[in-house]
Amino acid sequence: MKVLIVGSGGREHAIAASVAKSGRVDKIYCAPGNAGIGKIAECVPIGAMEFEKLAAFAKEHAIDFTIIGMDDPLVGGIVDVFEEAGLKVFGPRKHAAILEGSKAFSKDLMKKYGIPTAAYETFDDPKAALEYLETANMPIVLKADGLALGKGVLICNTLEEAKAGVKEIMEDKKFGAAGNHMVVEEFMTGREVSVLSFVDGKTIQIMSSAQDHKRAKDGDQGLNTGGMGTFSPSPFYTAEIDAFCKEHIYQKTVDAMAAEGRPFKGVIFFGLMLTEEGPKVLEYNARFGDPEAQVVLPRMKNDIIDVMEACTDGTLDQLKLEFEDNAAVCVVLASDGYPVSYQKGFEISGEETFDGKEGYYCFHAGTKADEQGRIVTNGGRVLGITAKGADLKEARANAYAAAEWISFENKYMRHDIGKAIEELT
Ligand code: AMP
Ligand code: GLY
Repeated sequence: MKVLIVGSGGREHAIAASVAKSGRVDKIYCAPGNAGIGKIAECVPIGAMEFEKLAAFAKEHAIDFTIIGMDDPLVGGIVDVFEEAGLKVFGPRKHAAILEGSKAFSKDLMKKYGIPTAAYETFDDPKAALEYLETANMPIVLKADGLALGKGVLICNTLEEAKAGVKEIMEDKKFGAAGNHMVVEEFMTGREVSVLSFVDGKTIQIMSSAQDHKRAKDGDQGLNTGGMGTFSPSPFYTAEIDAFCKEHIYQKTVDAMAAEGRPFKGVIFFGLMLTEEGPKVLEYNARFGDPEAQVVLPRMKNDIIDVMEACTDGTLDQLKLEFEDNAAVCVVLASDGYPVSYQKGFEISGEETFDGKEGYYCFHAGTKADEQGRIVTNGGRVLGITAKGADLKEARANAYAAAEWISFENKYMRHDIGKAIEELT
């Protein structure tokens, strides 16, 4: 069969690598893709938001199955456009992708259906938000309602910071229209875990857990980013926590969406915080995490096409998800200065060292081939270096060794991805 993947980051490269392993697939296209994806798929120069063009391409090339990797097209309704054109596509429709697209929607859903999450208020008027903050406890969390590349969340320690935050989000519109509405949320403490799941509208199956490192600098300092590195599984996600989430969070969310007339098919990403009072939902995403996908998918034993088709067909209950009994760590190689400002266009060397090395992956995120065919940096997050190991400690050592195989001029990485694992050993 022929598969089209929509997106251009490390997540889509990891998806493409899993699709390439499927015995059922003869040809992979990726729109728009990147330099690394181009090695296993044919990249098509159509943007992820050009829904009509993408659907026309899929028709013309007799694509059997399309996978949407990114949040923006999902929230914008790409799945509806494909389905209306009679094309088979993996991902939630627009009315279900709102689970990620509006934080106010997801918070109201959790409140209505009793799913544990932080206490909150929503505002569409900055004056009302400011008034509320005057009497609120600090620290407090401000969230732009809409999509903001994972950056529309401000943790404010003082009233002054909170006031400045309201100005940034609602008045200066730092995150664009995402800031027309704002959620103000209780600050929670605890360890974060990412749990990705496959959903077919009624059945949900959980993938192996992961943990991201969202801050730019070692020791969780610096600004929030799209994610600087991940490990999987998370040893902090115990059987007891899993049982709690299965009872109070996962199926409840799927049932709530169905009850609202918004059945969800695709991937639900549960961003959880393990608080002293138990696990609570920080956020939902309607897609794989990035860079969570880079550590979870390489460990999945199932044929990814079988699983995704079961989601679109509503037959997920007939399938058993299986993961390797090992671990993986992903270290993001970024451009120094990310997420604020950075230079691009530097040549990347050393990737050939990965050739033929089982269990090592060099996933491309912000890269492109220049006019001379050299692979150069083209974004804040450049590569995701993933390695497997028998356990997390070994995977971590392998990933950091492999991170040294690559060089480019302003290469930057965190050195403490997965360091928390050491607390346990
Ligand atoms: P989100 O995009 O909602 O996941 O938020 C980004 C990051 O901000 C999360 O991964 C947390 O580290 C942090 N965060 C979000 N909400 C809260 C909260 N209520 N309390 C503490 N930290 C939070
Ligand atoms: N790594 C966090 C996310 O994909 O949203």
